[in-house]
Amino acid sequence: MNRSIIVILIAVLISGGQAKAQQANQFFPAKNLITTGIYYYPEHWNENQWERDIKKIAEMGYEFVHLAEFAWFRLEPEEGKFDFAWLDKVVALCEKHHVKVLMCTPSATMPAWMRDKYPETHIMYGNYIRGEHGTRGLGSNANTKYKFFVERAVAALAQHYGQNKNVVGWQLDNEPDAKTDYSPSAQTAFRQWLQRRYKTIDALNTAWGTAFWSQRYNSFNQVMIPNVTLVNWWGNNPHALLDLKRYSADEQADFLDLQSAVLRKYISPDQYITTNYTAVSPTANPRLTRKMDFATYTAYPNGGAGNMGNVGFRLGDSKTVLFAAEYYKSVGGFTGVMEMQPGPTNWATQASLLLPGTVRMWLYHSFAAGGKIACSYRFRQILYGAEQYHAGVIKTDGVTPSQGGVEYIQFNKEIRQLRQYYQPDAQLPQKLAARKTAIVWNLENYWTIDREKQNVRWDAWNYPVKFLEMAKSLGADADVVDEKADLSPYKVVIVPAYEMADPELIKKWTRYVEQGGHLIITCRTAAMDRNGHFWEGETAAPLSDLIGAHITNTDMIPPYSKGDILAGQNHYSWNIWADLLKPDDNTTVLANYNDQFYKGTAAVVKRNIGKGAVTYIGVVTDDMKMEKEILKNNYLESGADVENYPPGIYVYWRDGFYVAVNYSSDNYEMNIPGTGKILVGDKVLKPAGVLVWTE
Ligand code: GAL
Repeated sequence: MNRSIIVILIAVLISGGQAKAQQANQFFPAKNLITTGIYYYPEHWNENQWERDIKKIAEMGYEFVHLAEFAWFRLEPEEGKFDFAWLDKVVALCEKHHVKVLMCTPSATMPAWMRDKYPETHIMYGNYIRGEHGTRGLGSNANTKYKFFVERAVAALAQHYGQNKNVVGWQLDNEPDAKTDYSPSAQTAFRQWLQRRYKTIDALNTAWGTAFWSQRYNSFNQVMIPNVTLVNWWGNNPHALLDLKRYSADEQADFLDLQSAVLRKYISPDQYITTNYTAVSPTANPRLTRKMDFATYTAYPNGGAGNMGNVGFRLGDSKTVLFAAEYYKSVGGFTGVMEMQPGPTNWATQASLLLPGTVRMWLYHSFAAGGKIACSYRFRQILYGAEQYHAGVIKTDGVTPSQGGVEYIQFNKEIRQLRQYYQPDAQLPQKLAARKTAIVWNLENYWTIDREKQNVRWDAWNYPVKFLEMAKSLGADADVVDEKADLSPYKVVIVPAYEMADPELIKKWTRYVEQGGHLIITCRTAAMDRNGHFWEGETAAPLSDLIGAHITNTDMIPPYSKGDILAGQNHYSWNIWADLLKPDDNTTVLANYNDQFYKGTAAVVKRNIGKGAVTYIGVVTDDMKMEKEILKNNYLESGADVENYPPGIYVYWRDGFYVAVNYSSDNYEMNIPGTGKILVGDKVLKPAGVLVWTE
């Protein structure tokens, strides 16, 4: 029986969640908790150092080596002539030293002969000039010649290593990104995509509103990719731009699926297929891929700044792993970090030293959130080339572990110890299950809001992530889910600024509330239909029945002003966004605007429906404390108690372990019950501190 039939059968026999757990278990036995690896580029080093390096990798406690990611020039030095002899030696050395191999497809960097002989394989920029040889990520995913070369190279690799017992999996490409390509191949592919979507040019004209500014098309052949280089941002058609993002994301997902399909022909069912998306993927839509086993993310939390306190600039942004670890779970059911920043980088605004312990804390954060893989870019700091100043886990002498390397060694050792405490039957503790929370997130809303913010201070990505932070601070187990996800396991569901919706989706949310759910919807939700059109009616018209109120207007005031809100006895200030609400008769007003010419108008409303309740938050407060209070009350009303962790303290539970990390600049003492047993760290978490315990 072939592999996909087996997977389908398993999925039919058991529920989706269990199927995913089983699949995760197949590649990553649960008792191993997490497996760690390291990027190694043998093609950058003298062959006489390979064995020394691989041996060192094994001694540092890594369990797999990530190979061949950017090595196309060496795998296919001349068109159609493949050379695996060098890589065979490295793979054999890995086997000798008992480390597994994660093999990569090399599509992200093309050899010079390709640009030379087949320039059409490279993308074109908005000025219709081709990308040049010398960097990565320039392949035109729409170009048949490029796809031919990729398929052939991937097939050759798969035939060579697909049955190798020491190769455990495959990574496709590198940080796949749905970049905009203006080449003739892309123009044709875009038109075909539009034709499939709209069928007739009239339907496209309607969807894009081309009657404005004489944009109307007589045929698909007249349509060009909307060009943000040659037409300024406000002059482009927003619906065309949205479709360009959608098309590019589809094209990119198809490109990955194409590679997976080639691999599947040759590789063993024991080898997994994944890719490494960036932690926040602004253009790629990972949820569109269909043929990979799961997705991983790359995490570079420290780009020279942090978000908390006086040592924050050394600890980095606490939200990087926080968001990615949940978001990428929604793609394949489980995830892990493929590149964890190992130290200062070459691209940071300034490359400060990390506070000792920071890399280990990031690793634990990714582990805490359920990660199955923790890998890092890269083993040795390179001596030459584009990322010269980027730290490795080994310093420039080739043998001494950097600070990040030392912390990896410690993590690798600690994980081996923790494996002894793995409890196969551990169930999410009741107190956490009682606060299980979903944040519904769709990249398409990020695209539309980010383009038309209405207020320059609206941070399209950060706004939903702040709700994730709040949920964590209240001690919830929180997932970032797709709108199609089953909401029934969640006690509280948050829908933050979900700009494009349709009546069906709103019906789904209504059913969730009727059946006892606590739903929180915020401003900017359902302001548009799926084409990005306003409704012919009031603002967010299809939402008004559900929230029991009407949005009559929206205000925003300058950053130096502070609007006042009164919620019960408490005052909150705002200036970014304020929906003015007119509640229906049975709707409760939780907060009013307390100044401006509309003083007394409702800002937050709540309504009970069936067994549940829905709250609409029409305003963004400066510190989001009001929003947090509302969330807290939803937990309390649904029968859960809450924690009150300070900013930067994240606490998770996985496989029987409680894990806490500290991104703040202050010590924090964790309250552990008398029955608690500390396995790693100290109950007083210092900045960059980690604590693992069981209860
Ligand atoms: C990642 C990339 C790596 C390396 C790294 C440097 O985004 O995937 O190949 O360039 O950045 O920080």
